[in-house]
Formats: sequence, structure tokens, C-alpha cells
Amino acid sequence: MRQLSLVPILIVFALFPAIAQPARPVITIKTEHVGLTLAVGADGRLYQAGFGPAESSLRIPGGSPAREVEAYPPYGNGQITEPSLKVVHADGNTSTDLFYVSHRAVESGGGRVETRIDLRDGHYPLQVTLCFRAYSSEDVIEQWVAIEHQEEKPIVLERFGSSSPVFQASGYWLTQLEGNYMREAHLVEERLTPGIKVLDSKLGIRAHQMRNPSFILAIDEPAREESGAVFGASLAWSGSFQFAFDVDWNNRLRAVCGINPLGSSYRLDPRTVFRTPSMLWTFSPQGKGGMTRNFHRWARKYGIRDGSAPRPILLNNWEATHFDFDETKIVSLFDGARDLGVELFLLDDGWFGNKHPRNNDRAGLGDWQVNEKKLPHGLSHLAAEAQKRGVNFGIWIEPEMVNPASELYEKHPDWVITQAHREPLYGRNQMILDLTRPEVQAHVRKVIDDTFGPNPGIRYTKWDCNRYVTQPGSSYLPPERQEHLLVDYQLALYDAMKYMADRYPGVMAMVCAGGSGRVDYGALRYFHGFWPSDNTDPVQRVFIQWGFSHFFPAPAISAHVTDMGRRPAKFAVDVALSGAFGIDRDVSKMSAEERKTVIAGARLYKERLRPLVLGGDLYRLQSPYDRPQAALSYVSPDRTRAVVFIYRLGEEAFPAIKPRGLDAAKKYRVREINLPEGARSRLSINDQVLDGATLMENGFSAPLRRAVESAVIELTEEEAQ
Ligand code: DGJ
Repeated sequence: MRQLSLVPILIVFALFPAIAQPARPVITIKTEHVGLTLAVGADGRLYQAGFGPAESSLRIPGGSPAREVEAYPPYGNGQITEPSLKVVHADGNTSTDLFYVSHRAVESGGGRVETRIDLRDGHYPLQVTLCFRAYSSEDVIEQWVAIEHQEEKPIVLERFGSSSPVFQASGYWLTQLEGNYMREAHLVEERLTPGIKVLDSKLGIRAHQMRNPSFILAIDEPAREESGAVFGASLAWSGSFQFAFDVDWNNRLRAVCGINPLGSSYRLDPRTVFRTPSMLWTFSPQGKGGMTRNFHRWARKYGIRDGSAPRPILLNNWEATHFDFDETKIVSLFDGARDLGVELFLLDDGWFGNKHPRNNDRAGLGDWQVNEKKLPHGLSHLAAEAQKRGVNFGIWIEPEMVNPASELYEKHPDWVITQAHREPLYGRNQMILDLTRPEVQAHVRKVIDDTFGPNPGIRYTKWDCNRYVTQPGSSYLPPERQEHLLVDYQLALYDAMKYMADRYPGVMAMVCAGGSGRVDYGALRYFHGFWPSDNTDPVQRVFIQWGFSHFFPAPAISAHVTDMGRRPAKFAVDVALSGAFGIDRDVSKMSAEERKTVIAGARLYKERLRPLVLGGDLYRLQSPYDRPQAALSYVSPDRTRAVVFIYRLGEEAFPAIKPRGLDAAKKYRVREINLPEGARSRLSINDQVLDGATLMENGFSAPLRRAVESAVIELTEEEAQ
């Protein structure tokens, strides 16, 4: 690893007296290149001693540093920094003061080490365990916190961060993924100034519509793509979150990250454990690119379901038909699917409801019986018809929801999230089932069983969620626990998702929430990928997929060819080829030219690109935020192959595209692929053999003449003769 002058990002205890006191534990949570060091001060509290490159973070402090660098600062009793924990004790006392008790580290295989540090309040029987899992070769540190007590009565947790590291540097640059429906995951970077900057979500469910719970923190200078000290972080939680970035009076930064405590204070019974969701941290001295590759390596192995398995080429009918289909139409789409090279047909919304047929978004949600008029022979028949044509079959569900126009609501009007004395508010004409209620939990499991159990031909599902919580009330929870709703809902939702994944391991799953309202590593444990946006205009998708790529690897990012935006078919295909490729088109409406282009793209993906894109290391080469042209590449782990995608978005010509991550000494044959039939490449080095060093040094000009053109360039190692 390149040696960096990273001393400033460490919390160096200038305030410690010089004499080291080895009797007091110094605890290092360490991966190959990153370390988080914590140390017990002379006062018995736990402090952070360093966070950054592993080799620099082993300073052994003495004395007790300033309270502002406590590892997990609780509110009250002398602590004046932004707190990670705020507890109202059973007797009404609002302060907590935590002291080190013990710690232990256990290897859990595969280079993973789990460290637990027990802290205890100086007076109250309250234990806080800081839990860390270090993933050595992926350079990821996961942190969560477990809180338990033995007070006489419940205590109230008013704040319960998952992680709150401290940084000391000359400046901090924060990048978030913000947006809205149809404009998701746009990167915005700003310099942090003194005071608190909060990034959050208050939406409860479909919580990440306007902001993903991930961020990039660049140290000392704005984030660069392949150099500079960059932390990346992501909260594994699908509900409301809060990241509070507090630059204090000493220009230290503390980032308190976790569930949004607003409206979520939690009454914790004695001898019950409250476990916060995990916060995932990584650090790279190789800028955003290095940070991304750490996350991707980790995610393929641990973060997403079957992260290394190939993703099938999907044909989804949503944009082609919306609710307007029947069996004949769908079966006709299967024929088209096979001819395109599709591997799985995904039947979207609209297949259920009889008394209240789901012919639009005003009725039927909750009634998960096949609509007998539209699909008289049922789901297994459809699956069999698809399989006859060599195509697998999947369906859409939204089991947490109900339309007032449904048999379910007629039977169980009390099952919804609602608040007394308020006019009910709908979102997309629907209400949310209150998952804290055990009958609702059982109902959701039954929907899963009734859908997949009798229909083993179903091999895929898209689990959607199309509204926010706007009246957070439960008719099940008692008055003093109303604020448990959002946390308990989320935990019950994970139980349901886990139930589906465990019980139906052969059913692959995509998480969707009106686009990407639920994209996080809490949900992705149970899903193979996510739907990034209902905006499938490939020009917009260049930005949306670019944003998500910072934290989520290609196998998770569904990228479908549609005709939204009426862009050239090759451009749409080339954008989709850089993710988990799929199609969302009415095959019968495609021109002969478009068909040819899509078929060629699907074939190329299956035959040459899929393992490289899904399993390769991502290098973002030219950002569409810098100039109207984007270029990115995937390099195989053994560096024998690479593919470069180039998307021109404006008329201007641009500097050379310089591949990265190649083996300088290897020789690569360079070839433009996915060219239209009969077209000749404009790539100046097409079919030449060049060494990696020359390619990375000189690069090449994009072989593109105008806006909304694209190119796919393949680099393949040419063995020496
Ligand atoms: C919202 C999703 O983002 C769409 O892809 C589609 O599945 C619709 N819901 C169906 O109602």
C-alpha cells in the first residue's frame, strides 16, 4: 500500500500524558489496510485512538484524552459532544456514563474477527456492548451496538447510534447520494463546516427514496477517483436513518450514524437486548475507486444474497403492459422473450385480485389470489408455458400493503398503520399493513407460502413497496410504545424477508420500493439485486447507475433496456450491459433494427461479458459529473480481461480514456465489440495488441462522434508466442 501522510486523520492523543500505561487495554480492530484503535483512559472510559491505515493506528496512548473523543459518547454527566446514546433511566435520570469492563476477540473464519467491548454505566445496571466485525481482506469494518439493562422498570432509549467514529484532519468533504423518484442516487459533495450537518430519512419505509444511507468522507481534500484518503460508509437498515456530522470547536469531526431517533424512542424492558443495525466502514488511500472496490468485494461475499452467482437476463413486462395484460398476452411475450435470448420472464404488478381486480393501482393489493379473468389457468400454468420455451418465470409481490378496495381490508380494517383522530392518508391509493401485529406477520408469511409453495415453477420475485409512512401509529402497540412502530416494523420485515429466502432458496429476489427506496445492506442480505429507478432512460441511467456503483456491485444493480427517452437502441443496450442486464419492452413493438440490437446485446452478455461485469473490479474512468461523457470498466480479478464502456452524452470531444487496473506487463488485444452489423470501428487502436502500461499511460480516444453514442471495448490478454 502506498504510504500516505495520514497522521492527521488519526485522533492523536496530544492530550495524553507522555507515559504509556500498558496495563490499560488498547484494542485494535484491524483489517489488512485499515485499523480502528480504541483505548481505555486513566478514568476507565473508552476512547478512540485512531481510525485509518492499519499500520498508523497502533499508537498506545496514556492518560485520559478529552471527553470529545470517547468511543461511544453517552448524553449527560460531563459529556458535551454530540451523543451516540441517550437513555432515560427507570428513575427518570437522563444521564449515562459508560466505563470499560472487558473485551474479547474471536476469529469467525475467512479472515473475520469479531471483537466485543463491554461498557457499563458507573451507577445504573446498564451494559453497552460495542461490537465489531473486521473483514480482513475486504478492508471492511462492521460495527453495531447491543444495549441491555437490569433496572427495575423499562428505560427509554432516545438515541442509539450504531457507530460514531471521530476524525481529525484539516478538512472534510462529504458526498451523499441524493435524489427523488426518477432521479435517484445523484452525487453531491460539500465541504463540512463547523456545526452539524444531518443527512437523514424520515420516511419509515421506502425510506431511501430521496437519499441512500451511504456516504463518502474524503479527508483533507475533495474526493478523487483513484487517489486520496477516502472513507466510505453504509448503514445496513431499510428504515429511516440519521447521519449527524459534527465538526466541533477543535475541527474534529464526529459522525454519529444509525437509525433516525426522531419518533423512534424505544422503551427497553429489563434483560432485553436492543441491537442497532450494522454500520459498514471502509477506508482507501486510493480514493473513491479503492473504496468502491472494497465495498464490492465485501458485498459479493457477505453483503448480497448469492453475491457471486450469475444473474439471469430478465424480461419484465411492467413498462410494456402496466396492468393491461391477460394470459394470451403474457404467453405471447414468452415467445418473444426466448427469441431475444432472455432467461427469465418477470410478471409485474396486476396478476391478482378477483372481487377487487388489480387493474389499476386503486384496488386489489392484499388479495394475493390469481385474477381468474386475466390468468384463468393460474401461475403454475404460466410458469410451465414459460419453461416450455426455455424461459424461467417470476412474479411481483408487495405483501406489506393493502388497498382499501380489497377483501383483506374489508375483513381487517384494523391491520393498517394509522393514527386516531386523523383523516387517513393514502400513498398510491394504498395503506401499509402494521407488521408489528403478529396476525399481520402471519399473513405476510402466508402470502409468501401461498404464492411460492404451490407454484414451484416460480423462480424469481420482485418485492415492491410503494409508499412512505406518513401517520406513524399502530392500533396494536400500547400508547407508551407507539414510537416502537418504525423499528419493530423493520425487524418484522426482515423476519419476513428471511423467511422467504430460507424457505424458498430457489426463488431469486429483487428488492424494489417504487424504484430504489430500499437499497441497503440490511435488505440485500435477502435479495440478489435491486431496482435502481423507474427512470430507464439510458442517459439518466448513466448517472443513476454511476451513483449506486459507489457502494453496490454490478450483480445487484438491475439495468434494463427500455425505450424510455427514445434513445438509440445500441446506447440503451450498452448502458444495460454494464449492470445486471435485462429488458423491459413489448417485443412485438420493437423495430427489426431494435430487435437485432437487443438480441446481439443479450448474446454478448451471456457469451462474453456476464462474468466480467458481475465479478470484475470496477474502475470509473471518466465521470459524467465532470464532462458529458462517462467511461467505466471492469477488470477480471486475474487481470487477463477487461471491458470498457463509454457513453457520450454531449457534442464536445474529450481527452483520452485511460484504462486502469490492468497488468502493466501483460499484452492486451483491444477490440471494439457490440458494433452494429457491418459497421467498422472508429477506435484508432482497434485490433491492436498493446501492453497494459502503454494502455494505461496513453489511453485512447472514444470512437464516438456525437451525443448519445456509446462504445464497448474489450481488452483480452494475448499470450506471448
Ligand atoms: C414500482 C416499481 O418501481 C415498478 O418497477 C413497478 O414494479 C411498479 N411499482 C408496479 O406497481
